[in-house]
Amino acid sequence: MSIVAEHLTKIYRLKKRQTKTAVNDISFSVPTGEIVGFIGPNGAGKSTTIKMMTGILIPDNGSITIDGLQFKKNRKEIMLKTGVVFGQKSVLCWDIPVLDTLKLFKDMYRVSDAVYRENMDMFSEILGINEFIKQPPRLLSLGQRMKADLAASLIYDPDILFLDEPTIGIDVLSKERIRDFIQKINKERHTTIILTTHDVSDIETLCEKMIIIDNGSLIYNGTLKALKTNYNTTDLEEIIKEIYRNGETKDA
Ligand SMILES: Nc1ncnc2c1ncn2[C@@H]1O[C@H](COP(=O)(O)OP(=O)(O)O)[C@@H](O)[C@H]1O
Ligand SMILES: [Mg+2]
Repeated sequence: MSIVAEHLTKIYRLKKRQTKTAVNDISFSVPTGEIVGFIGPNGAGKSTTIKMMTGILIPDNGSITIDGLQFKKNRKEIMLKTGVVFGQKSVLCWDIPVLDTLKLFKDMYRVSDAVYRENMDMFSEILGINEFIKQPPRLLSLGQRMKADLAASLIYDPDILFLDEPTIGIDVLSKERIRDFIQKINKERHTTIILTTHDVSDIETLCEKMIIIDNGSLIYNGTLKALKTNYNTTDLEEIIKEIYRNGETKDA
């Protein structure tokens, strides 16, 4: 399940005929089975890009191809193959027990009983969702809510997972569990993962490659290793700070 974005552009129409180009002609591809860190300062256009890649927003220009499929023609097939988690916004029903929402997803995505059980066991083992699954999201901590959202996005075994700030505001232990979980899913199922995060250690532990955008434009697309070589330091946080300050990368 590869992702190909070509000349992707999104322009928001604001009041008084003003516009904001949130994503400006970016192109990249992500091969099957990779975990890519999708990085950029606040307002860079990360969430907008993820929304276009998941069919929530329609690009003003350019295209997204997911395993050869496009939203215009194959929306339903793409939906079945992709999962998404927004750290800032839950897909779960606020007032009903998490378990009920997961069962709803099971029906919606036609997950077999066997796969459902197997996944639920794994989510309980690695994420501990059994501890809070009978409660509604409104009673959960942020970490628990994120784990529940991860479970919902993976209950139907998608081939691609988009994670938009899944570790934001979460304590170190929950974060570690979420990271272990992401790693396990990628290793065992070869799920392709696009991960947005401001946490440098998320990137260090999970990603081999990075795509950096700033102000709607692509400024780096390559390996962490190459980036560190270009900057002559292994301190990724320092490198990222310098890139954000300059709005460009060295020799990229
Ligand atoms: N619905 C919207 N309407 C108008 N402007 C928006 C909307 N959503 C995001 N923007 C603007 O587009 C830019 C990119 O936003 P976003 O994709 O959320 O960035 P990021 O996720 O990297 O922080 C920002 O300047 C933001 O203010
Ligand atoms: Mg965002």
